[in-house]
Amino acid sequence: MAVSQFNDQLGQDSNFATTIDMKSPLESQLTDNPLYLKIKERSDADKPPSRSSPLGAVAHARAPATESRAELMQYIRDQDKDLEVGYFGAIRYKPVSLGGLDLKLEPLHPSIGTIVHGIDLNKDLENPKVVDFLRALWLERRVIGFRNQDHLTRDDMVKFAKRFGEVGEQFGEREHRPNSPHDINQQIKVPGIPNMLVLPSDEIVPNAASGWHCDATWQPKPPMGSILMCREAPPIGGDTCFCDCYAMWEGLSLEVKKRVEFLRAVHVGSVGHQMDGKTPSAVHPVARTHPETGRTTLYVQQGFVKKFADEHDIPTEEQRKLLHSMKMQEGRPEYTCRFQWEPGSIAMWDNRAVLHTASGDFWPHRRLMERLTILDYERERRVPYYAPNQHSSVANSQN
Ligand code: SIN
Repeated sequence: MAVSQFNDQLGQDSNFATTIDMKSPLESQLTDNPLYLKIKERSDADKPPSRSSPLGAVAHARAPATESRAELMQYIRDQDKDLEVGYFGAIRYKPVSLGGLDLKLEPLHPSIGTIVHGIDLNKDLENPKVVDFLRALWLERRVIGFRNQDHLTRDDMVKFAKRFGEVGEQFGEREHRPNSPHDINQQIKVPGIPNMLVLPSDEIVPNAASGWHCDATWQPKPPMGSILMCREAPPIGGDTCFCDCYAMWEGLSLEVKKRVEFLRAVHVGSVGHQMDGKTPSAVHPVARTHPETGRTTLYVQQGFVKKFADEHDIPTEEQRKLLHSMKMQEGRPEYTCRFQWEPGSIAMWDNRAVLHTASGDFWPHRRLMERLTILDYERERRVPYYAPNQHSSVANSQN
């Protein structure tokens, strides 16, 4: 659905709980925001986005000889303007019949990511067997996706989310509720659904969560999962990529595993995550037991992890080497899948088992996403822990 149609629907359908102006998501609520005004200065001065952000770097890589923002934008738009949606060749899928539904499960990668075709998330989840099936698939595949769900209103998304977990604050638990002016996304409020995080990007204010991370690990009880809906997609680019944290753990050398197995690391939020000017941080185990599968993940993502906990007293050079060996696991092609967005696509991922990153490659196109985070209904499973058993303990493993 094009954004103009979505706006029409917003106007006509009283079920829509929102009054956000989708035509200019950034300008409508941000006109007085200092960060917005600062970023917009570049646009007013016809300066392209900075090469220090992936959105700027990719734009310059696409059109190397162009310096003015307007020319760069035009060059890229001309390249992308004739793209049409089409389907070529075969996709592989597994047929599954369940509760009267004929589902097609399309794997995105051998071990992670499956798109579930043939389901209407508004109607078909009344059957608890379907919900149980999706949860089991989600645990097995770490991230599941859906197409053609653009009829879901924001209230419907909340209903969908509640089938899997408690809908958290924008960043999960209530202990830390960021209110930093240094984050564009938080400035946009959805009336009636304060927990929803709107992630907009356009040619004036390029914006993408590009960089591997799990959501809000700087919280003592980070969110179990996240659900992302695409309302507007660029004609090309802006995929979300996911990286398997089980494989990241498996892929560490035995020597490194032995050294870090019982260590804890410090996760520090960014300036955009500050609450009342204070930067949040939390300490979590490096090896984490997934509370539902019992398997071990590497729970270190270098977006937020800066060091090991002080109590371990690890020399700086050794810290650097250990963090580097973990960093080398992040985003390896063998551990990752990409989810390509269309308006109405939804991805639901397990923050305990995958890292994710937006692919910041789509400027100057618009992209508009809505995110909900979900918390485990079983409260005692919310705090990350490591409890090796005979199968997962490093002492019993081999390289
Ligand atoms: C997020 O980091 O939660 C959003 C990812 C995206 O926009 O693709």
